[in-house]
Amino acid sequence: MKKLLLIGNPVEQSLSPEMHNAAAAGLGIPYQYEKRCVQPDQLEKTIMELRNGEYEGANVTIPYKSACIPLLDKVDESAEKIGAVNTIVKEGSKLVGYNTDGTGFVRGLKEISPFPIDQSHILIVGAGGAARGIIAALLSEKALCVTVCNRTESKAMELALEWENVKTVSIEQAEKNLDQYSIIINTTSSGMYPHTEKMPISLGTLKAGTMVSDIIYNPFKTLLLNEAQKRGAIIDNGISMFVYQGALAFEKWTGLFPDVELMKETVVEKLRRKLC
Ligand code: ATR
Repeated sequence: MKKLLLIGNPVEQSLSPEMHNAAAAGLGIPYQYEKRCVQPDQLEKTIMELRNGEYEGANVTIPYKSACIPLLDKVDESAEKIGAVNTIVKEGSKLVGYNTDGTGFVRGLKEISPFPIDQSHILIVGAGGAARGIIAALLSEKALCVTVCNRTESKAMELALEWENVKTVSIEQAEKNLDQYSIIINTTSSGMYPHTEKMPISLGTLKAGTMVSDIIYNPFKTLLLNEAQKRGAIIDNGISMFVYQGALAFEKWTGLFPDVELMKETVVEKLRRKLC
């Protein structure tokens, strides 16, 4: 049996093992995916274990996506620019870091969005790690125009300086002109806490038919997605990003692209049971 590992803290909530084990079983290949809650002082030792041990590769999640970088032998150019690694692949004796979060998001978006990325004005809400990955992936798909807005405006400005073709606006400016965008992506964690949730951006000027995406998948439908749907938007939650980032990682480890529908069904089923 070949082994794969999720490294993070906390990891109890993660559905990656179920999703990847279903993918491996679907292809009939002998991979076993485990998760491990790693304390900060154990990160180096865990990466060493990957290098020397029985694991073929790993996923890395919060809070180690940046912290693991100096411990790897090589990091692919895009992950380096994003400053975060979510997938480690053992290539010969070397550990190589990749980031499939943004590319996974874009694969999922392309499936559902009627708007080709290279013809779209896209608004990103949020300027953290998730936004960076998604912006990098959108730019590599030749997005026509990417605009970022963030609660802390200076962070959006700093981020925009790193890429050509990325503009910033204040949240207020964005709110006045939402009809200029065909795709709006919420990368903030605002939807994760339904009891205290506030809209990261108000949708008064949203046009019906706009694509509105939120990277959160638990809850299934954030306040933002609920509001967007009421206004006639096409909505998408973070399940497709989660599934495709996993599928792209799985492909790097095994050389095989898994059945994403099977992965999606597994995740949705597990979430349903958790919510019941
Ligand atoms: P991640 O790696 O998940 O993107 P992060 O780097 O901590 O996490 O970034 C979180 C992003 O969500 C930031 O843009 C943050 O805005 P600030 O820069 O102003 O902190 C945004 N964010 C988090 N909670 C939010 C909320 N309740 N409303 C609006 N934006 C929020």
